Amino acid sequence: MELTQQPRYDALDATFLRLVLRDAVRAPSSHNTQPWLFHVIDGTVELWADRSRSLPVADPHDRELTMSCGAALHHLRVAMRRAGYAPEVEMLAEPHRPDLLARVSIGRHNEPSKLDVVLANAIEQRHTNRGAFLPREIPPQHLIAVRDAAEAEGANLVIVPQAKRHQLANLVAEGDRAQWHDSGFRRELAKWLRSNHDEKHRDGMPGYALGMGDAAAAFAPLVVRTFDRGDGVAAHDAELVEGAQALAVLFTSGDSVHDWLRAGQALSHLLLRATSLELAASFLNQPIEVEELRPAVAALIDQHSVPQLILRLGFPATSVQATPRRTVDDVLR
Ligand SMILES: Cc1cc2nc3c(=O)[nH]c(=O)nc-3n(C[C@H](O)[C@H](O)[C@H](O)COP(=O)(O)O)c2cc1C
Repeated sequence: MELTQQPRYDALDATFLRLVLRDAVRAPSSHNTQPWLFHVIDGTVELWADRSRSLPVADPHDRELTMSCGAALHHLRVAMRRAGYAPEVEMLAEPHRPDLLARVSIGRHNEPSKLDVVLANAIEQRHTNRGAFLPREIPPQHLIAVRDAAEAEGANLVIVPQAKRHQLANLVAEGDRAQWHDSGFRRELAKWLRSNHDEKHRDGMPGYALGMGDAAAAFAPLVVRTFDRGDGVAAHDAELVEGAQALAVLFTSGDSVHDWLRAGQALSHLLLRATSLELAASFLNQPIEVEELRPAVAALIDQHSVPQLILRLGFPATSVQATPRRTVDDVLR
């Protein structure tokens, strides 16, 4: 359809809302908890944190929960832009209601740019890919585009220099060992693991997303709860770090709720831009999640900023299936 022929949606008409929220809920979230709720009030969409979906062991301050909501906020903005609007966002508008993370109004009519359409098209195609990447160099202009995407949201993506890989690999391995040694961490992780054909849940991580066949996925919650596999996980992840085509750390200038929301939007923007360039990404955040190791990540890469996420980027060797999502009805109040 020609852009000029696009229907003028009545601001926040029900069909329009459903369309853009369906894109918003495709956002990534830690353990696929999808910790967001949306309210529609007075012509604006409110984004609320759903803290009943928090991860008290892996994410005790709801930092990643807030980043996940930030990613959903960016997905929503992208969907609205594709639909021909220039959404306006007010973050943390009411200090006495800290769960109200953002208010999004639809804004004026605005013809989407080519990049708006490219990013919106990437929403359905983006999946976390934890598998092997091809031994193919990433063109420098691709990395610049991905870095610019993070910068556009007020965050900073640093590509880790080769000379620092080994030290970062050691920190990731140390983070893995610390997390897996903690039975509380394993119990929490097990709660969000799903079999490959789970029909009951629309959240959590199916085994296939972690590279497991049906049998391994069926037993994964029990195995994860019972055994400290920290050494094995650490060795695997250290190898991923050393062998990654590109390794990047997402930084913000501070560590407030505002910064976390910015980091989440930056994450969404950079992942969608990467997807549009046929790059895949996966996460290696362990030394940031383990609080005692976080200063060492900053000291290694950029001691003046606050590290929020560690990402591996590359051309994927295999494609991955989408993970489930709750429906718009599930998250709309
Ligand atoms: C803030 C944040 C932190 C994440 N941390 C990790 C992580 O440490 N390890 C990992 O394998 N995946 C991590 N993920 C990816 C999620 O598990 C993934 O987004 C979720 O399972 C949904 O799958 P999808 O990205 O394929 O849609 C993280 C995602 C977000 C948004």
